[in-house]
Amino acid sequence: MQALLSLPSSLHGHSPIALLSPKGVARKEEKKEQNQQLKWRKRTLEHLAPPLMAAILTLSSPVLCFEKPALASEGARLFQKACIGCHDMGGNILQPGATLFMEDLQRNGVSSEEEIYNVTYYGKRRMPGFGEKCSPRGQCTFGPRLQDDEIKMLAEFVRTQAELGWPKIESYGD
Ligand code: HEC
Repeated sequence: MQALLSLPSSLHGHSPIALLSPKGVARKEEKKEQNQQLKWRKRTLEHLAPPLMAAILTLSSPVLCFEKPALASEGARLFQKACIGCHDMGGNILQPGATLFMEDLQRNGVSSEEEIYNVTYYGKRRMPGFGEKCSPRGQCTFGPRLQDDEIKMLAEFVRTQAELGWPKIESYGD
């Protein structure tokens, strides 16, 4: 087969192998057909290219809207860094009635993103504030403060997690 294919084209028709061996002829025919098919496929691909591109663009557009999960994973990362010590899996080790589950958030009037932001920024009773302008000092974390946009991502993350019933954070990947 290989040998047959590598024969110079002028010899093709007269190749003794091809003439004598029906198998060789059959193979040659097969090859021709394949070539034909390839050509045809190439042509169809060329024709299909614009609609294909359109389809690919349509299919990939949700990818462009993946801002949310990206945000969520950044929020998850921050949460694991700053909040998990007291709020592992959305709980509250210092105050069982003030978990980050929707029921508690609602009862305590902290269920909107804005309210979660404020609690996280300024703190509340035994919850330390993480905002850069948090005061008085005693109400604020002794650890590093967070940027406003980081607190915003945290608030969004906490609110989303509460809505979903606190699924495992690992599911966000990193
Ligand atoms: C040192 C422990 C501690 C850390 C760290 C901590 N919290 Fe808290 N958090 C608390 C306590 C205690 C409360 C309850 C405050 C209250 O209402 O008296 C609370 C309450 C909250 C609430 C309101 C919950 C409710 O049901 O009323 C939110 C939202 C919250 N924390 C978010 C965060 C976020 C986000 C972080 C990380 C940036 C964080 N917390 C870090 C201790 C902590």
